[in-house]
Amino acid sequence: MNHSVTKICEDFIFDLNLAIGKQAAESIYILTDDNTHEFCLPVALQLEKLKGSHVICIPSGDENKNIESAVEIWKYLSENGATRKSLMINLGGGMITDIGGFTASTFKRGMRYINVSTTLLGAVDAATGGKTGINFMGLKNEIGVFAPAETVLINTDFFKTLNQANLLSGFSEMVKHALIDSKEEWENVMKFDLEKMDFNELKVLLNKSIGIKERIVEQDPYEANIRKALNLGHTFGHAFESLSYKTNQPALHGYAVMWGMLCELYLSHIKLNFPKEELLRLKYFMKEQYGTFEFHCQQYEALFELMTHDKKNDSKEINFTLLTDIGEIRINQTATKDEIFECFDFFREG
Ligand code: GLY
Repeated sequence: MNHSVTKICEDFIFDLNLAIGKQAAESIYILTDDNTHEFCLPVALQLEKLKGSHVICIPSGDENKNIESAVEIWKYLSENGATRKSLMINLGGGMITDIGGFTASTFKRGMRYINVSTTLLGAVDAATGGKTGINFMGLKNEIGVFAPAETVLINTDFFKTLNQANLLSGFSEMVKHALIDSKEEWENVMKFDLEKMDFNELKVLLNKSIGIKERIVEQDPYEANIRKALNLGHTFGHAFESLSYKTNQPALHGYAVMWGMLCELYLSHIKLNFPKEELLRLKYFMKEQYGTFEFHCQQYEALFELMTHDKKNDSKEINFTLLTDIGEIRINQTATKDEIFECFDFFREG
């Protein structure tokens, strides 16, 4: 798989112009959702060569990352003259880059696409790495392909439209990257002032964070081995996220990942001797910044059930990525039901 280049822009219009120029596309299709259509599209349209391009708008929200929206996009492309030499520009968060990448890379066996990530969460995770897809029959990203964007552009000015909760949701994936990378990066993210975010400092951290992901994806683009490190926090995290939707207390993805990381570091502690002081540091940080997820012991079984259905599992066993220390990754770990329940106890105690 070829690799796309991710760029944090200093001059977004200049970089966009350059990225489009390289493709020499026959026609251009910009995919937006209700939000980015209103707030980000006018910025992109400052670029003269985009003025006559086609704009597709789909409803925002992960619940719309589905086959119906994909059909709408394919229909539009088909009825409006798109060819294999056309270019799609996905202007949005993870939902838009996932479904845009999927529809582009399957239309006429594949047209090229550029991701312009407008959220911190999308920038640090979904936009880079070539995973595309849609949700299907209640399962997240059940249908999809690996197909990298030609270029990934990040304009941090778009982040200024995000509220604090959405910024924190993205920052959680940066914490994950630091944990799997090194003590130095871990200290850097822990030092960052989340109350008064300095966007210039954030850009520096983000650049390093994306670099961590890119290096891992380069080694293992199809997630046969080390890319599984990027799943830290996601086995428990996806179960918390699903339960939060089922119980009408919907949690943002990054919050669920933060809660999941605490459980998985506790599991790392009891199974692999991950240092207790770092575990407690994450617990304190999580409680201060992300609060906690409320659940009771009668829900342990439901959470366990959700974890057994996670598509990261290879066989009947639940698959975890754990750490023996900061930056020391152990993929393909398993745990007993008792150990998992012990993690829930640890999570819920004060
Ligand atoms: N979101 C994790 C990955 O791209 O592998």
